[in-house]
Amino acid sequence: MSEPNDPSIYDLIGDEGFQELVHNFYQQIPADPILGPLYEEVDLQEAEQRLLDFLIFRFGGPDTYLRERGHPRLRMRHARFPVTQEARDRWIQLMENALRECDFLPDIKQTLMKYFEDAATFLRNS
Ligand code: HEM
Repeated sequence: MSEPNDPSIYDLIGDEGFQELVHNFYQQIPADPILGPLYEEVDLQEAEQRLLDFLIFRFGGPDTYLRERGHPRLRMRHARFPVTQEARDRWIQLMENALRECDFLPDIKQTLMKYFEDAATFLRNS
């Protein structure tokens, strides 16, 4: 259980940790047969920055995402992409690959993975 005074994940892995994770994730996107086509219209470098800012904000760091993008409303922001069970599972798989390369403590990896799994399930829309 996390307590109010526990350090946040951002305190533990910092900008560098989230940068590494998000970068590892996006590197796999262009060649991915399921997710690649969904991101074809998107500038991947900008998309990487948005996910980075979002995760930093979500896990206790600076709120750059909120200031630049406003309230996350992630379900609404994903409405234009078909998030099928297959797309959801692939997203999770790529994130697991990305996390495996990162040198974070097992507890941190577990907390992040649990969050991603729940959030990706919540974003399923078709
Ligand atoms: C844990 C699950 C996920 C999180 C936390 C997440 C988070 C985000 C965030 C923060 C953005 C940028 C929103 C904005 O500010 O405009 C975004 C964009 C996007 N997401 Fe997700 N997402 C998740 C799952 C998925 C899944 C399962 C798909 C599969 C279809 C997906 C596809 C996309 C695409 C195509 C974009 C557009 C790229 C962009 O313009 O930034 N996401 N996501």
